Amino acid sequence: MVSFLLCLLPALLATSAQAQTVTCKKCSGSADSSCQPPAGTCTVDTAKGGCVTVADENTLATADGTKSTSVSKGCVGDFSPFIKGPVTATLGNGKYIRVNTSQCSTDDCNSAVLAVPKENTTKNGLQCPTCFALNTNPCDSQDTPCTGNENYCISFAGYLVTG
Ligand SMILES: *[C@@H]1O[C@H](CO)[C@@H](O)[C@H](O)[C@H]1NC(C)=O
Ligand SMILES: *[C@@H]1O[C@H](CO)[C@@H](O)[C@H](O)[C@H]1NC(C)=O
Repeated sequence: MVSFLLCLLPALLATSAQAQTVTCKKCSGSADSSCQPPAGTCTVDTAKGGCVTVADENTLATADGTKSTSVSKGCVGDFSPFIKGPVTATLGNGKYIRVNTSQCSTDDCNSAVLAVPKENTTKNGLQCPTCFALNTNPCDSQDTPCTGNENYCISFAGYLVTG
């Protein structure tokens, strides 16, 4: 009996440590409120990750500053570097980006429509140097009043991918 238990215990532990996965909605699109078309699903280990939705509205991608929106849903293997909650940034000259994200870990939990932060034009007393430049254009900054709950000055650099 004793030897039976000694053998059984590691087997039970191995079973309970087995990966748990969830199935998430997967799509990306520019529709205001939902992904068009719903492209399918993906499956991810829930140990560190799960399902995500990212919705944004910005005027960065177009030369004439018109608004574009996008929604993406899918799987993320590790939530820890993932930006949580709503983020807005005002970059001067009508350039802005407003993003909301959500993350969850049950099957199809990322199917809901995700709201994007609304514009808040109330000045909050802070100001930051602002500029936005694509490619090699110089980023000539000018001080711009901060609005709403934008309480930090930030700098960022990266790749802008359209479509
Ligand atoms: C961001 O998304 C959450 C849902 O995850 C929602 O409750 C919240 O109202 C949204 N925030 C804004 C500012 O739209
Ligand atoms: C807009 O921003 C101001 C200044 O931070 C704040 O007092 C106000 O509550 C915000 N309005 C909304 C609708 O969030």
